[in-house]
Amino acid sequence: MRIPMCAPSVGAVERDAVLEVLSTSVLALGPRLEAFERGIAARVGAAQGIGVNSGTSGLHLCMIAAGVGEGDVVLTTPFSFVASSNCVLYERATPWFVDVEPETLTIDVARLELELKKLERRGERVKAILPVHVFGQPCDMDPILELGARHGVAVVEDACEAIGSAYKGRPVGALGDAGVFAFYPNKQLTTGEGGMVVTDRADWDVVFRSLRNQGRDVFDGWLEHSRLGYNYRLDELSAALGLAQLSRLDELLAARERVAAWYDARLAGHDWLMLPQIARWTTRTSWFVYVVRLATRELRDRVMHVLGERGIPARQYFPPIHLQRFYRERFGFRPGDFPVAEAAGDTCLALPFFPDMTIEQVDEVCGELLAILEQEAPSVVRRVAAGGLR
Ligand SMILES: Cc1ncc(COP(=O)(O)O)c(C=O)c1O
Repeated sequence: MRIPMCAPSVGAVERDAVLEVLSTSVLALGPRLEAFERGIAARVGAAQGIGVNSGTSGLHLCMIAAGVGEGDVVLTTPFSFVASSNCVLYERATPWFVDVEPETLTIDVARLELELKKLERRGERVKAILPVHVFGQPCDMDPILELGARHGVAVVEDACEAIGSAYKGRPVGALGDAGVFAFYPNKQLTTGEGGMVVTDRADWDVVFRSLRNQGRDVFDGWLEHSRLGYNYRLDELSAALGLAQLSRLDELLAARERVAAWYDARLAGHDWLMLPQIARWTTRTSWFVYVVRLATRELRDRVMHVLGERGIPARQYFPPIHLQRFYRERFGFRPGDFPVAEAAGDTCLALPFFPDMTIEQVDEVCGELLAILEQEAPSVVRRVAAGGLR
């Protein structure tokens, strides 16, 4: 590939920070983890940060803290990475999908309320609402929080793709009972593998710290375990990398914002393309990916294929969760169940995107993309209009 799909921005600051850990004897549960937890919590305005070894582990712990168990229901979105509903399955509960809004691709709050009421009427035990700030776009949190409070249902934000985004001036992640960030290398801030749960709830904080460390409570003695726990700890090397990245977070987010603006400028006003939409409630976008939408699935797939042939990677983001094989087999989902998420899954195309991307690289991607569209779009769209393709 001529240009990578994504690449972390890691330099001398990060290298020095990680190497410094190796000259100490504390490689786990040490001062870097504590500093990183304090740093992230302060950054997003939460009382506590609890480092974990992935976003998925963080979401799993939130399900346990919310009391999600066998037979319970968690309301969430099908337009996300599979981990955001797998965490519900880990506790033998049911993810209840609610379709997304067509422009923002975040959970549709009007439908959410209808579904919650319907489930309660049926006597289902709804234990949590799990909105996902997909691609860094905050969900419309005020009505979601209000709904959670009114019905006594916990709200857990999947902010794995959204560190630094703000909803009506408030940083996401710290708005619900708990929020989770992920630090995989494609994320805005990376620790290699890693994640962080943030919460204002002292009762949940204690549970998170115990569960991530094999169920040991702070007052437990050596090899004493108060509950069933996990090894979901974040090591000192990863925490040191995270701290270094956190010291550069504003610079990293600004760099992503700059790359997104270059794409916007280069692609604006072209037929066949819809550019990323920013919700009216979003006061800061932390750009995770740059995703355009094309008129049809056929056109998107064709463009993705030809881009690949020309050395430019591009990806389908996201195939909806309910249509993943094991969700279909287990719950009987079918195409058509969540049409808005499916339409997005059919037409979204993520382009190469990373903070150190140059304007020349953006130009190269856009030049190829527009040339391919010019060549392919009219015939694909004509065939669709004539009913020749579905
Ligand atoms: C929306 C969302 N949720 C959860 C996760 C899981 O995070 P991790 O890969 O760190 O387990 C991701 C990561 O890609 C994500 O994008």
